[in-house]
Amino acid sequence: MSFSPKLSFSVFLLFHLCIVMKATTPPSSKWLEPYRVTITNQDVPVVLLRCDDLDASLLKPGNSTSWKFRKNFWDSNKYGCRFYWVDDNFVLQKQAEFTVFDDEVANKLCGTDGYNMNRCYWYITRDGFYYSKNDGSDWNLLHGWNNIG
Ligand SMILES: *[C@@H]1O[C@H](CO)[C@@H](O)[C@H](O)[C@H]1NC(C)=O
Repeated sequence: MSFSPKLSFSVFLLFHLCIVMKATTPPSSKWLEPYRVTITNQDVPVVLLRCDDLDASLLKPGNSTSWKFRKNFWDSNKYGCRFYWVDDNFVLQKQAEFTVFDDEVANKLCGTDGYNMNRCYWYITRDGFYYSKNDGSDWNLLHGWNNIG
């Protein structure tokens, strides 16, 4: 079998296509829905907050914490948070734990816009945890606090 320039060119092309494809394929997340979750403490003296793999936060009244991410390909992003209501003497008063973001929360509450930031707002109050999509007009009390012990 003689060496075929045609075959050789095809191999050359294929080889380069692979490199180009590999080099130009953007991270898949670029195509997936962007989200920002914001959690604000309204009137609890001190809230200690820990959401899965994020750093813990200490929120005084008026303080917020916020993070953004894109949905992954499997829609499996999930942030479960633990909240601790602490008084001014750092004595634990109440606690709560719920999922602030997952696919169900996204579909029911935050939205599923593929191009613009989907925003989810949680407000922490002494009554419990309010959710709003618009940060102001449509608060709904969705979770309560649990007493300690
Ligand atoms: C948190 O709130 C306190 C008052 O409640 C304020 O003094 C402080 O600057 C706030 N911190 C941040 C990071 O906003």
